[in-house]
Amino acid sequence: MQHLSLALMPTVEIDGRRIEVEDGTTVIRAAERLGIEIPHYCWHPGLSIAGNCRMCLVEIEKMPKLQIACNTRVTGGMVVHTTSEKTKAAQHAVLEFLLINHPIDCPVCDQAGECKLQEYYMDYDRQPSRVPLPAKVRKRKAKPIGPLVILDQERCVMCSRCVRFLDEVTRTSELAFYQRGDHVELDLAPGKTLDNPYSANVIDICPVGALTSRDFRFRARVWYLERTESVCGACANGCNIQIYHREGTIYRFQPRENDAVNQYWMCDAGRMSYRDLQGEGRLLQPLVRGADEFVPAMWESALGAVAARLREGGAGIVVSAQASNEEVYLLRRIAAAVSARVAGISWSPPGAFHDDFLVKADKNPNTQGLRLQGLAPGGAVDEMLSAADLRTLVLHRADLASWRGAGAALERVPYLVVLDTDIRETAEYANVVLPIGTYAESDGTFTNHAGRVQRFRAAVKPPGDARPGWEALAALLAALDGGGRFESAEAVFAALAAECPPFAGLGYDALGTQGRPAAG
Ligand code: SF4
Ligand code: SF4
Ligand code: FES
Repeated sequence: MQHLSLALMPTVEIDGRRIEVEDGTTVIRAAERLGIEIPHYCWHPGLSIAGNCRMCLVEIEKMPKLQIACNTRVTGGMVVHTTSEKTKAAQHAVLEFLLINHPIDCPVCDQAGECKLQEYYMDYDRQPSRVPLPAKVRKRKAKPIGPLVILDQERCVMCSRCVRFLDEVTRTSELAFYQRGDHVELDLAPGKTLDNPYSANVIDICPVGALTSRDFRFRARVWYLERTESVCGACANGCNIQIYHREGTIYRFQPRENDAVNQYWMCDAGRMSYRDLQGEGRLLQPLVRGADEFVPAMWESALGAVAARLREGGAGIVVSAQASNEEVYLLRRIAAAVSARVAGISWSPPGAFHDDFLVKADKNPNTQGLRLQGLAPGGAVDEMLSAADLRTLVLHRADLASWRGAGAALERVPYLVVLDTDIRETAEYANVVLPIGTYAESDGTFTNHAGRVQRFRAAVKPPGDARPGWEALAALLAALDGGGRFESAEAVFAALAAECPPFAGLGYDALGTQGRPAAG
């Protein structure tokens, strides 16, 4: 038995530290588990192994030559050295080779600060170049190769990550290597443009500044940006992302690894959707309709007016699948406090793009969340709008005027309250407009198409006097039921989990960075 377990879980020693790993684990993965970094260019955990850059060479006892850690499987009793003299000499040699024709244009390269050539040179090389600049092979610089990507051929280290991504993940094969030797260069395949729905992932996986983003280039140096873990809200898949931001401005979205949701990738539409979150039409303060026009109001007076109206009865509440689980819960509590009807709606543009990889036709992040709280989108909204006794209607992130052409019906509603992020058509019919934050400006959770509950975190503050949606609703609920006020989105989620069986046992800590499946 001892022998069998050794065979199934070999033990490897790396730099004097031992670890037991599953059979078939590569040295680079075993080292990663020990927190030991083995420098690498061509290896990427989401792609096939190419083994072509040689940056990951390590010394393994009883093996005559250095081995590449990315394609060497651990065997029982293996002893690996990642910092021995032989390994260091190999690292110097590989870096010198890669830098022979590299233009070293770091000061004007947008990858500076997140470039593996720059980083590894500082960590593993630091030798002066033996090749004078004029002797370097020149290639094409700043060549647009698709709507989102720009190629600098001189900076490419031929790791083939981009080529493999396009061959293996999107299967569109837009990029390939041409020419030979010193003159080998990465380029578009004849007649192709890099414009598939996932094209910008090559920017993330290019370890150097050969593929950069046409959108992000030169807008900010990465070392000035902060990162916040979140999920993309542009469709029901809920790809895990990092939001890069500075001083209240979002600069980019990048995918964050989650094997259960998006692996290492995200779609281009989701990546660019950060721009929709900071458009020019943001609502900046509560508005209350005066005799003719909207008049700016303080939150407390606007909420007081809404609470007084809701207490009169005859209220209906519509919440869209753009709302977080926390917001849906608070709206249900508000409905219960004033015996209002409440209905869910999930709207997507007709014919919205989707595929069998990540992108869903449902362009809402939380349709499942609505369902799990008993508000499955259906005909209830129309019923509510046509009810003769409807006196007050609350629309939460629900632009019924443009989604359903419901302008005429909204005009007949005696008192309309709109909570939204932006000025949209529906607000024209409102008596009170309450400005709320986007998901990038609030804490909360969405439940994705597969029922996975995932956290998003406030990266930036809502503009002007806008408030996170949960906060506005918590204040309204407190005004209505006279009870204590929820102090955080986490507290709202805890109340939801205590009351709604699909969320039982979940909490912000348990959801962590990768989310958890709901029970329903
Ligand atoms: S462009 Fe980047 S990802 Fe593609 S082969 Fe060159 S270095 Fe690698
Ligand atoms: S697939 Fe959906 S969730 Fe993922 S990045 Fe695209 S739009 Fe966002
Ligand atoms: S990372 Fe191992 S050969 Fe490139």
